Amino acid sequence: ADDVVRRERFSGGPARGFLSSLDSDARIFDADLAVDRAHVVMLAEQGIVPEMEAREILAALDSVEEAGHADLPDGEDVHAAIETAVIDRVGPVGGKMHTARSRNDEVATCLRYRLREDLLGAIAATLEAREVLAEVASEHTRTVMPGFTHLQPAQPTTVAHYLLSYESALARDTARLLDAFDRTNRSPLGAAAFAGTPFDVDRERVAELLGFDGVVENSMDASSARDFLVEATSALASLATHLSGLAEDLVVFSNKGYVQLSDDYSSTSSIMPQKVNPDTMELVRACAGDASAGLNGLLTTLKGLPRAYNRDLQRAHDHAFAAVDAVTEATEVAAGAVATAEWQEATLADAAGQGFSTATGVADLLAMHGVPFRTAHELVAVAAEEGADYETLDAAAEDVLDAPLAEYVEREAVEAALDPAESVASRDSLGGPAPDAVAAALERVLTGLDD
Ligand code: ARG
Repeated sequence: ADDVVRRERFSGGPARGFLSSLDSDARIFDADLAVDRAHVVMLAEQGIVPEMEAREILAALDSVEEAGHADLPDGEDVHAAIETAVIDRVGPVGGKMHTARSRNDEVATCLRYRLREDLLGAIAATLEAREVLAEVASEHTRTVMPGFTHLQPAQPTTVAHYLLSYESALARDTARLLDAFDRTNRSPLGAAAFAGTPFDVDRERVAELLGFDGVVENSMDASSARDFLVEATSALASLATHLSGLAEDLVVFSNKGYVQLSDDYSSTSSIMPQKVNPDTMELVRACAGDASAGLNGLLTTLKGLPRAYNRDLQRAHDHAFAAVDAVTEATEVAAGAVATAEWQEATLADAAGQGFSTATGVADLLAMHGVPFRTAHELVAVAAEEGADYETLDAAAEDVLDAPLAEYVEREAVEAALDPAESVASRDSLGGPAPDAVAAALERVLTGLDD
């Protein structure tokens, strides 16, 4: 009867909708059922709840699951609503389910349980994207393209070298997400409100039943901690930031005719018939906003919260869930776009030779033949003003070195240094763009991804 009075006392009022998280808790409905089941099994194993009653509760949970989240009675949140639904089915004995716990440790456990799954989805998406980057790269170790700094033509590189630069960045994002997963993968259940419980609970057993690696030990920390959300969202923000750079490149490269996105990843204009726009890449670029909004929302919500549980926490986790949804989808789309895009080799080769992008290589060559690099730099800069060929370089040599170029280096070597493909092939330092260096990197990447 007390229960009924209490439930009625808190059932109405203008702030009811504001207080309730029942709708957004749909995301942790399955998690809560799993947590309830593990908890009830442990209570029975420990002799805290008689086995027959535990069986009744477990059967009721099956029926609640079958009816689905949409069928739950009204409640302040999914935890309260499921408990009410269980009691509706089996009577007051259903109330034993909440022995030795609180919604505070319960929700913290549900969030970790659910986020674990979401993180695995995000991790899988990064692996898939990295595989695509490596596969496309393996087709383009000799496809020369212009490389940029400040978005100005800088030095020629290859499409493979370019794509693998993003594979490397995404590999660190995978590692960050795995780290976040490891620290998410711990069970707070048994912390109760924050102060533990006098019941002889087996927290390790519940953790084991739920597939966690162990418990979050300190009960005040267990019910309050949300840094697992921060860590996950920050890993996602890094990933989204990398994707935004890749997407921006692809927008620019589409614009220059270096690459053609497949129709599946392009959009048309409702008014301009000739348009094929790289809209998917613009949306991927924008997802960095979702991720950083999530991170900011989280940190701002958590900042200054006193120990232990505060209801603010109810508004924290949706920031992380929104971020993981947006970024995982963006990762999948970016991978699909890269997998199906066509690199325009002739246009790329042509562009790679423009703007004297081999100037650094010519300066390097002179430096290899005894001209101090700073002087070589000046010589090539003087030549660059007149256009980049052997004649202008030779004239510049007379100017700067008081000697013909041939006194330092053979004409053939200079001509080779001026050629974009030769220029790329010469830069075979570890991690450099030379086809041999990239092939070695590719092999390491592909074996790494296979493991
Ligand atoms: N729905 C709450 C949340 O998401 C959990 C319940 C704890 N509520 C409470 N009043 N102690 O944080």
